[in-house]
Amino acid sequence: MAADNIKVAVAGVGNLTSALLQSIYYYAEGHHEELMHPRLAGFAINDIEVVAAFDVDSRKVGQDLSDAIFASPNNKHKVVEIPKTGVIVKMGPVLDGVADYSQEVVEISNEQAVDLVAELKSSGAEMLILNTPSGSQEANQAYVQAALDAGIGLINSTPSAIVRKNEIVRQFASKGLPMIGDDLQSQAGGTIFHKGVLEVLHEQGVKVDDTYQLDVSGGLEGLTTLDYDRRTLKRTTKENSIKRSLPYETNVAAGTTDYLDFLGSRRIGHYWIKGLGFLGHDVKIDIRMVTDDGSNGAASLVDAIRALKVALRRGLSGAVDTVCTHLFKAPPSYQSRTEAMEGFHDFISGERNS
Ligand SMILES: NC(=O)c1ccc[n+]([C@@H]2O[C@H](COP(=O)([O-])OP(=O)(O)OC[C@H]3O[C@@H](n4cnc5c(N)ncnc54)[C@H](O)[C@@H]3O)[C@@H](O)[C@H]2O)c1
Repeated sequence: MAADNIKVAVAGVGNLTSALLQSIYYYAEGHHEELMHPRLAGFAINDIEVVAAFDVDSRKVGQDLSDAIFASPNNKHKVVEIPKTGVIVKMGPVLDGVADYSQEVVEISNEQAVDLVAELKSSGAEMLILNTPSGSQEANQAYVQAALDAGIGLINSTPSAIVRKNEIVRQFASKGLPMIGDDLQSQAGGTIFHKGVLEVLHEQGVKVDDTYQLDVSGGLEGLTTLDYDRRTLKRTTKENSIKRSLPYETNVAAGTTDYLDFLGSRRIGHYWIKGLGFLGHDVKIDIRMVTDDGSNGAASLVDAIRALKVALRRGLSGAVDTVCTHLFKAPPSYQSRTEAMEGFHDFISGERNS
């Protein structure tokens, strides 16, 4: 690949990383009518190059990335043939990466963890993406430190508090490194969709009383979030993001309630909204949404990667607020959906610089 590609390293070779890698090859073939940004700041999706990858599952570690993304328990289906990449998945530090329930399906490798900093430096990666399971706090800490020590940018797809933690942001800022996060907001996922519906109801004068968004999914992440603490962490970032779309307090519940392996990488969300309309009439909305989890996340991740590249080129450091606010559920600061999107486009065009 060309020297001016965007070189990324990924921690976690699950369904999201599978969709990311597949998208690089799929969009090299065309299909641009499906994209909001065929080019972002001049970069196409196939300008992204994965140059290093870390996982802890014995069926992925030691494999070429093109094979590892289709190894069990990943179940994101194949949409494109991928040639050998030459990138061999390396053993990461296990720490708290594998939740208790997930140990039924993840086969933890006996290999020793590699020297993350040395691997990142030798790969030429410009940024590290955390695609580890929800709630991998200690593992993420190890990867964050490695990114700092290797002197590269950071994208946190997970709900761990990293970019919304001042002390970590300060460390990146002091090293002149940019970062974006926390908790990726999928392209057409539960959170953005729910916020959009609530915002329209509010604009139209409906007072929302109660709302929930509960889903079941068949990906490993669904199993991971059966763990109470991990589910609470994920639920909190989703619920806070949704609550902020209304200017008043209301009852919001949002999150995964069960794991059904036969759903594969699908996530099935059930939405319920109850509000009060004109002359006191009830407004009740009941929706069922079926999405493919990995694809939905990767759609936002390819924009996040290209936006972080812009930040690197401009020499920005610390949290890049406009990008965090538009593409993540738990950014350091909150704006409405439309303000966030405008801010993001102003950042990409150069009208705003942070
Ligand atoms: N739609 C989306 O895909 C989406 C949206 C928003 C946020 N996210 C977040 O992205 C993350 C990844 O999602 P996913 O669906 O790919 O999860 P996944 O469970 O499919 O994949 C996680 C991978 O991490 C590996 N892993 C476990 N411990 C590790 C460690 N210590 N070091 C390196 N790898 C380790 C697992 O073996 C697995 O391959 C999750 O935190 C999720 O909350 C995903």
